Amino acid sequence: MGIFLCISDIFLSGKTDIEAALPTFIDGHKMKDLTPDRLEKLVNSPADSFGVTHVELFYNKKEDKLYCILEAPSEESIWRHHENAGLKCEFITEVQQIKTDKILKTEKLQILGEMSSRISHDLRNPLSIIRNSIDIMNMRWKDSMSNEMAEYLAKMSRASSSINIMIEDIVNFARTQSLRLENNSLLLVIHRTIDTVHIPNNIKMKIPQNDVMFEFDSAKIEVLFNNLITNAIHAIGGNDGGITIRFNEKDVEDKIEIQVQDSGPGIPEGLLPRIFEPLFTTKQYGTGLGLPSCKNIIEQHGGTISITNNPTTVTLVLPRHLRAYPKIQS
Ligand SMILES: Nc1ncnc2c1ncn2[C@@H]1O[C@H](COP(=O)(O)OP(=O)(O)O)[C@@H](O)[C@H]1O
Ligand SMILES: [Mg+2]
Repeated sequence: MGIFLCISDIFLSGKTDIEAALPTFIDGHKMKDLTPDRLEKLVNSPADSFGVTHVELFYNKKEDKLYCILEAPSEESIWRHHENAGLKCEFITEVQQIKTDKILKTEKLQILGEMSSRISHDLRNPLSIIRNSIDIMNMRWKDSMSNEMAEYLAKMSRASSSINIMIEDIVNFARTQSLRLENNSLLLVIHRTIDTVHIPNNIKMKIPQNDVMFEFDSAKIEVLFNNLITNAIHAIGGNDGGITIRFNEKDVEDKIEIQVQDSGPGIPEGLLPRIFEPLFTTKQYGTGLGLPSCKNIIEQHGGTISITNNPTTVTLVLPRHLRAYPKIQS
């Protein structure tokens, strides 16, 4: 699959949204001595002295040509920018971006990323005060509390847990730190997760007897199990059910397969292709960021994640020796 630049006359109809803050242009020129390193810096740099910012770059290997999407005050400023860099432009043309649903979603996700650090600072602390106070009230006045009061406290506790899950989903999705690889015990991470996620009494957890030790980022893998177990708990709901975790060491391929299975009703077939899409959720208080976070974490570890129904099973495949893929970790 490739990306192609196609220029055509268009007739606009339907749901599109054309707008631009600074005018946007496309230009095309020879790569010359521009190296991938220099190009990457271009995109991440603020506007130059001519007011030109590089938004995106596309390279045509066959013709050794570079096509740039730029924001600039005028076409003139881009010609001058190229003159200054000693590059000869073949064409510059002004365009307007058509904001498709996909682009609007990407923009929404960018805003979400920016919001997440504020959320983590401003909401996490007061929320933990509320959650601790509920725990203290439950402990101190357990015997003297009326049933009605206990019910209200239980409601507050459930609501604050939901808020906590949403905040963690947003923060974890936006977090893009590089991996901290250490030799870890998979079983230990699962036990730690189970200690933090409240498993209701109607759900039986089955975890493997055998342990697997290999190199992974334990904090991230804990986030992953936390998401998968929380989803399984939501799916089972108030019914009696179970969550089973299995490890399967594939010695030949040097890979480890992990499965998280639940007895819930599964995912409607029509929705299966969408569940890793950021912001896709079927829950009233869902963020739709749990599975996308899991996918990011697994892919950063050089692995794969997939989900099948009957029974609902999440399958993770991780390489034992990630250091063999240094590029993936950053
Ligand atoms: N174990 C599961 N059983 C049934 N449906 C699931 C399961 N895990 C995920 N899903 C579906 O995938 C959607 C996306 O999950 P996720 O990304 O974790 O977001 P959220 O949990 O906030 O909805 C859920 O809303 C649900 O419809
Ligand atoms: Mg979730």
